[in-house]
Amino acid sequence: MRILVIGSGGREHALIWKLSQSPLADAVFAAPGNGGTAAHNVPIKDGDIEGLVRFAVENKIDLVVPGPELPLTLGISDAMAQAGIACFGPSAACAKLEGSKAFAKSVMKAAGVPTADCGVFSEESEAAAFINAHAAPMVVKADGLAAGKGVIIAATREEALEAVHSMLSERRFGDAGNAVLIEEFLTGEEVSLICFCDGERAMPLPSAQDHKAAYDGDIGPNTGGMGAYSPAPIAPDSTLDGLAGLTVRPILREMARRGTPYKGILYAGLMMTDEGPKVLEYNVRFGDPECQPLLSRLAEDIVPIMLDCVNGTLAERRPVLDPRPCVGVVLTAEGYPGSYEKGMPIDGIEMAETDPLVRVFQAGTAIKGGKLVSSGGRVLTVAALGDNLAEAKQTAYAAIAKIRMPKSRYRSDIADKGIRRLQRS
Ligand code: AMP
Ligand code: GLY
Repeated sequence: MRILVIGSGGREHALIWKLSQSPLADAVFAAPGNGGTAAHNVPIKDGDIEGLVRFAVENKIDLVVPGPELPLTLGISDAMAQAGIACFGPSAACAKLEGSKAFAKSVMKAAGVPTADCGVFSEESEAAAFINAHAAPMVVKADGLAAGKGVIIAATREEALEAVHSMLSERRFGDAGNAVLIEEFLTGEEVSLICFCDGERAMPLPSAQDHKAAYDGDIGPNTGGMGAYSPAPIAPDSTLDGLAGLTVRPILREMARRGTPYKGILYAGLMMTDEGPKVLEYNVRFGDPECQPLLSRLAEDIVPIMLDCVNGTLAERRPVLDPRPCVGVVLTAEGYPGSYEKGMPIDGIEMAETDPLVRVFQAGTAIKGGKLVSSGGRVLTVAALGDNLAEAKQTAYAAIAKIRMPKSRYRSDIADKGIRRLQRS
């Protein structure tokens, strides 16, 4: 088979690494890819639906695997289906679960999925009345895609009013802020539940936990993700079926009832509250960086699973897994998620990978004049397996210490929440 992966992050490097191991894969392409996928790259942007379809048709692609949400919300699956090409990802109608938080809330409500109470507004005066009738803290969210920046935790009513004003009137997030959600503030530990879906059935991967804050101790600005590990002890394997039954399968039933069955990855971002799990958001794709530890642990061919999802023939079984936990630590440019320098030389990846437990997945990298340099904020993820979470963490940090890039940094506490939970139990 000839396979096309869309995207350029660490998630996509992991997908290409995993897909390339399949005996079914004859050729794997990356559009546009990164420095780590250079041998696979074709220069087409992830939002260029027409260009991607043209490439797929001309190059006789059999399977398309979109990594990020953008091509999915732009209808890449529908466009590929029209061209007769299998695409592992939801239709645009289904990708709205990520593209519009108001839509996701309405589907959750219809499906009976537990989530934070909320109001949806496009008029500032109505939003203000709602804020004044509720107690802070509360969470203000732009309805549409805002590159992870559209969620504001407001400690006071004033902050909530200001956030609403910046979204609805000052149009800080453009059309993504045509509507806002004002949500009840939930407390608890977050966990990612990522499932393969075939329109009817869901096969959950083990749990994973992202670290979204920039600094140790979950302090500082929100990022795309500074590290992730799997499994997360707060959601052990024995709970996965229950969690999927509560937060994923009802969505599959509701989307099928609407005539738009959900196929691909459905990612439920959960808050484990005292009242039970509640959905914070859906993503219609693998998480980045969760994908890197999850695929490091997947011990079977991913291609037949993806084809089963596309064809509606997925079995509701557990995937074959490496039982060892995996910890992924993200190396970023100093300053990220704010401004940072690009073009920094990167050395030592081969040294880090001399340990067979370690794999380095590149993200914001490029090859310039034959040298690997940084080209983005999240530069790479070092993923390491270990006999237990603490050992996996130790191996990941020993490996990342071998990688040299000026003006770079990483969090030093990835997986600590899980390690502490295991120590308490
Ligand atoms: P979202 O993009 O909706 O997942 O929001 C991004 C992050 O904001 C989440 O990962 C949470 O850390 C936080 N968040 C979102 N909604 C809430 C909520 N209702 N209560 C508390 N934190 C939230
Ligand atoms: N790791 C969170 C996300 O990919 O949205």
